[in-house]
Amino acid sequence: MALPDECLGLTRVAGFYYLTQKLIAFGFPAAHASFTTLVITLSCISALLLNYGWELRSYRRSRHTHDQSGQEARVPPRYPSMIPFLGNVIPFLADSANSIRKAGSYAGNLVTTRVPFLGKDVYLIHDRETVRKVTKHPTLSSPMDLYIFSLKYMFGMPKRGLDAYRKDNSGPLSKPYPGSNVAPQDRIDYMLHDNFIRQWSGPHHSTTTQRFKRALTARFDSFIVNEQWERVDDLYDVLAKRVSAALTESIFGPSLLRLNPNFIDDLWKYDDVVPYLVRGFPRWLMPTPYRIRDSLRGQIEKWYAYARENFTEDSIEADGDGDPYWGSEFVRHFQKMLSESGHDDAMLSAQDFGTIWAAGSNTVPSVSIACLHIFRDPVLLQRLRAEVDEAFPTSEDLASASHQQLLKLPLLCSIFAETLRLYTKVFFGFSSPHEDAVLGKYRLPKAQLGLWNSDLPHNDDTFWNTKSGQHPIDTFWADRFIVDPNDPESGPIRPELRKREVKTGLREEKSKKPYFSTEGLDGAWVPYGAGIPICPGRLISKNVILHTTAFMVKNFDVELLTPKLEISHWRYGLGVGRPAHEIPARIRKRMQ
Ligand code: HEM
Repeated sequence: MALPDECLGLTRVAGFYYLTQKLIAFGFPAAHASFTTLVITLSCISALLLNYGWELRSYRRSRHTHDQSGQEARVPPRYPSMIPFLGNVIPFLADSANSIRKAGSYAGNLVTTRVPFLGKDVYLIHDRETVRKVTKHPTLSSPMDLYIFSLKYMFGMPKRGLDAYRKDNSGPLSKPYPGSNVAPQDRIDYMLHDNFIRQWSGPHHSTTTQRFKRALTARFDSFIVNEQWERVDDLYDVLAKRVSAALTESIFGPSLLRLNPNFIDDLWKYDDVVPYLVRGFPRWLMPTPYRIRDSLRGQIEKWYAYARENFTEDSIEADGDGDPYWGSEFVRHFQKMLSESGHDDAMLSAQDFGTIWAAGSNTVPSVSIACLHIFRDPVLLQRLRAEVDEAFPTSEDLASASHQQLLKLPLLCSIFAETLRLYTKVFFGFSSPHEDAVLGKYRLPKAQLGLWNSDLPHNDDTFWNTKSGQHPIDTFWADRFIVDPNDPESGPIRPELRKREVKTGLREEKSKKPYFSTEGLDGAWVPYGAGIPICPGRLISKNVILHTTAFMVKNFDVELLTPKLEISHWRYGLGVGRPAHEIPARIRKRMQ
């Protein structure tokens, strides 16, 4: 009978130990001291391996008993680790993608697991049933510790600023969490989230989108002026920088970028080095990431001085939102509210820098990668152009289209959803600070960290439709999210599961026309997270991606000069990946 791998490992270590004992016994006195060290080392290794073998056995056992039991909610099975206290730190930092995939699945299914990490447990939640419970849970919110980590390491918030965040455990909702006792003016979590939601979900999300569209058109008008081919070394870079500038301008106004002409270039240099900051490399060991970060914050503070000097209430545009100095009500409100609660410019600039990066870091690569897929596939390009041209015969029609009109284009929407499914590999964190959260059969204890990575649910081929393997789950299929009422094999969900997962959709079914659908995908398609801590910028992001994709195919011809499109895994966990290489291309105004 073949021994399992871990038993083979133990057998080899035991054999080696036995051999060293024999050598000592046979008289190698000069080597005695070093052999003693060797023996101690090997004994430790054996103990660690034995411990690991034991933990692995208990894990497998509890997976079988726990996952099938219908008893009251329990903490999930504990994932084995080799080294006490450190837990899984080394494998998870060395190869996050592989480690998360291993810990998040068992026997081919996604599971929920408790992973020991630096003396604590991290609750990795990936099975769809539990993810759905997270989506609806009333006490789960973004853990303040994670927020503080990002502000400190990624955006350079000074210590005096972090203290204000540390003191607040009252949650992001208007009603403070029971058990918290924080004065209303110190409820920073609520103040931030209230502003995010008010500005980006209400009417201002449309005015922000309008400003984005104008800024995007202006940037391409000054770049591609006629129908002559223009060669570019890297089309990804060309798209990313222009979309990024337009998005930043739509929220923070034109003055920030006019005063700091290198801001967008610096922002993308910063984006390249973010993984070092997240891994906590100190300044003395790696000064460049810190230098770029400090420079960007300095540029933001220079803009504050200018906006304060020039802004008056009369500068606000007729829509009640935009203005040429601060850019939008979102920024004006933050300036007022955070200054009143004690933020100085260094603290404000860390906060604003975080928002600028959060807005662009996933939206910009998503739209750029979507365009690369479209322009490398002539049939897809022609189908999408036909859809866009039929809905918006002229460029002006498209420029004035509302987001509701864009949402009626099934292929465009499906490309958006498939790009986010395939390329968003983001960690999403949550916790329940004052009481345990019951999530179906599992329990997330009070103040513990729950985490998922969208990579796992997005690549669960027991759930997603691959059209009988024609479109594997790890490939881009532009039509994956289109349901064709005449084709029972269509749609994002495996046909045999569709009836169980999809409850409505009847209106669209009756029309007999193919339509875009994310119905039944709760817990399976989660690029923006879910529940209370869901991304507050998701509506703006969707508008930006849909509009820019339609804008590019409507107005430009692009010829890619490389067939290669490989995405780097270096940023795994931070969001949408970036191409691992340059994409040389030719671009010109579209020939009709
Ligand atoms: C494809 C595009 C985007 C993706 C995939 C995405 C994803 C996410 C996710 C998963 C989170 C939660 C992280 C966590 O709490 O663990 C988040 C937070 C956030 N996102 Fe987005 N996002 C996108 C676009 C945007 C845009 C366009 C904006 C701004 C207009 C934005 C602003 C924010 C902010 C401010 C937060 C932090 C909210 C908080 O403090 O809880 N995001 N995003």
